Order: sequence, then C-alpha cells, then structure tokens
Amino acid sequence: MKELESYTRLIEDAIQQLPFDAEPSGLYDPLKYFMRLGGKRIRPVLTLMGAQLFGADVKDALPQAIAIETFHNFTLIHDDIMDEAPLRRSQPTVHEKWNVNTGILSGDVLLIKAYQLLGDIAPELLGDAFKLFNETAVEVCEGQQMDMDFEQRSDVSVAEYLEMIRLKTSVLLGCALEIGAIVARAPKEDRAYIYNFGQHIGVAFQIQDDILDLYADPDKFGKQVGGDVIANKKTLLYLTALTQSTSEQREILKQLENASDLEMKVRRTKELFDHLNVRELCEERMQEHYNLAMDSLDRISVNNQVKEGLVQLANYLMNRDV
Ligand code: IPE
Ligand code: IPE
Ligand code: MG
Ligand code: MG
Ligand code: MG
Repeated sequence: MKELESYTRLIEDAIQQLPFDAEPSGLYDPLKYFMRLGGKRIRPVLTLMGAQLFGADVKDALPQAIAIETFHNFTLIHDDIMDEAPLRRSQPTVHEKWNVNTGILSGDVLLIKAYQLLGDIAPELLGDAFKLFNETAVEVCEGQQMDMDFEQRSDVSVAEYLEMIRLKTSVLLGCALEIGAIVARAPKEDRAYIYNFGQHIGVAFQIQDDILDLYADPDKFGKQVGGDVIANKKTLLYLTALTQSTSEQREILKQLENASDLEMKVRRTKELFDHLNVRELCEERMQEHYNLAMDSLDRISVNNQVKEGLVQLANYLMNRDV
C-alpha cells in the first residue's frame, strides 16, 4: 500500500494548493470546504497509477488527476442535492450547510475547474484527453438521470441497473485510468484494456457502495446509513430482494416504499433483505465484476510487478468500510 499512500499524499498536497481563497467567498468557501473534506481520492490515484503503469512520471499526470477529482466532487455536490443527502465525508453536505443554490453554482465552478486542469497537458494529447473526458462526463449525467428515474419505477431489471451504474460511476473510473495512460502515451489497445479494468472495478465499487449504504457502521461511514432505502433507490440489494421474495414479501416492500416513518422503513426493509440473504448474493455479484476486472488487467502488455499497485487498490476497494 506504499504506492497508494504516497500517491494520495501527492494528490492531497495538490488539492491544498488549488486557488480557492478567492472572492466572492459565497462561491469559493463551499468549494474549499468540500474539496478539503477528504474522501478516498481513488479516482486521481487511478490516474497516477494509469500513468505509472505505462512508464510516465506520475507528476506529469497530476493536473489531470486533480481534474478527475474536481469533476468527481462536482458530481457529488449535485448528487447530494438530488439525493437529498444530509451527510458527506462525515460532514454536512454543501446544500445543508449553505443552500441548494450554493450547491448548484459551486458544483458548476468545480466542473469548469476540471476542464482548466485537464487542459494542462501536452498539446498533441489534448484531443484524446478531451474526447474521452467529454464522453465520460455526458455518460455520468445519463447515469444520474436513470438513477433518479428508477426511484419512481418498480420494474427495473438487473440489466438496467447494471447499465445505470456503469454510466453514473464506472465510466469515470475507466476514464481516470485511461487519461493516465494517455499522458503516458500508451498504445491504443492497452488504453482499452485499462479502461475496461476501470469499468469492471467501477461496477464492483458501486455494488459495494449500495451494500455499505445499508450495512455500514454509521460511526465510520460518513454518509447517512439507509439513505438509498429512504429515497426508494433501485439498488442491487433491492432488485435482488425482489427476485428472491414471495409475492407477499414483494407487497411488503412496495408498502414500505411509501412509509412515512423512515426509521421503521429502513429497519424493516433491512430485516427483509437479511431474511432473503440479499447481502451475500450482492457480494457474489461484486466478486464476479472484480474477476472480470482482473481479466482485463491481465491482458495489458506490461509485466505483473508493475500492475501490483492496481491489484492492491482493487482489493482495498472491495474490502473498505467507507
Ligand atoms: C462516491 O464516491 C460516489 C460513488 C460513485 C459511489 P466515493 O466513495 O469515491 O467518494 P469519496 O470521494 O471517497 O468521498
Ligand atoms: C453517485 O451514486 C454517483 C455519482 C455521484 C455520479 P450514489 O448516489 O450512490 O453516491 P453516494 O452514495 O451518494 O456517494
Ligand atoms: Mg447519493
Ligand atoms: Mg445518487
Ligand atoms: Mg450510494
């Protein structure tokens, strides 16, 4: 994990140096607040690892790594508004601490900052980097819209769910890695493999995120436990419960969706999930995507020792409690 720690430090330092001590403070204070709350910083670490894998100096990919993290933080500020989430990284969300308008505009500025940082790249690489980043950014929005649409639906299939999380979450992990590979001028084929590795890890990562949303230790998690149940999200837990349940149990789940006693709603939904062994089934699916990720990693034409950091990061993600 040495690599992971030193890369995270590099990223934290770079984030501390971002020029957020600016006016109007009503715009910049929330940005500074949010960007400095921490978080795992896995996406920028992936960019650095993508660059390192193909022989670049990681410092050459630092602006792009920070761009990806800035973009991610933009999506989180807006996601918290959309999900009505009170907590993020163990602190109040931007719209709770300030207000929704502040969250919208601060998020927008972070998106623009991401472009400024991304553009700090060798001119001949700019086209490829922008193309990938732009496609990814649109896909994330598509995934977010699907996620919101699914709240109102009760017939979401697992295939639709997988496509939704591929878009809202996985493509950004793929993009983070491939941008690192672009900086390192990796061959096209390897760029596709590293992107696919990121996508599969991303699917496993979002499944884990769904599991943690209900099963994490509230003292460690840093987000509201049970938030997905409260919002009627069609998570893999929920969809798995549907496939495992009797028609009576399905009826109970449906009624719980409309319950106004939120503590009871979360508790009873969880009891039913536990009864149906939903968590284990989701963990098996997560493992399948982890394995697919490892297959993609195997195909990359660099020696295994150089890939070790990515394997360790993937393992850490599968076993996290935050
Ligand atoms: C949260 O991402 C959003 C998801 C895609 C699940 P992270 O779990 O990486 O959040 P931070 O950046 O570490 O807070
Ligand atoms: C977030 O999905 C995906 C994006 C931010 C694009 P979630 O809504 O599950 O993320 P968390 O759980 O709030 O971090
Ligand atoms: Mg959310
Ligand atoms: Mg969301
Ligand atoms: Mg979540």
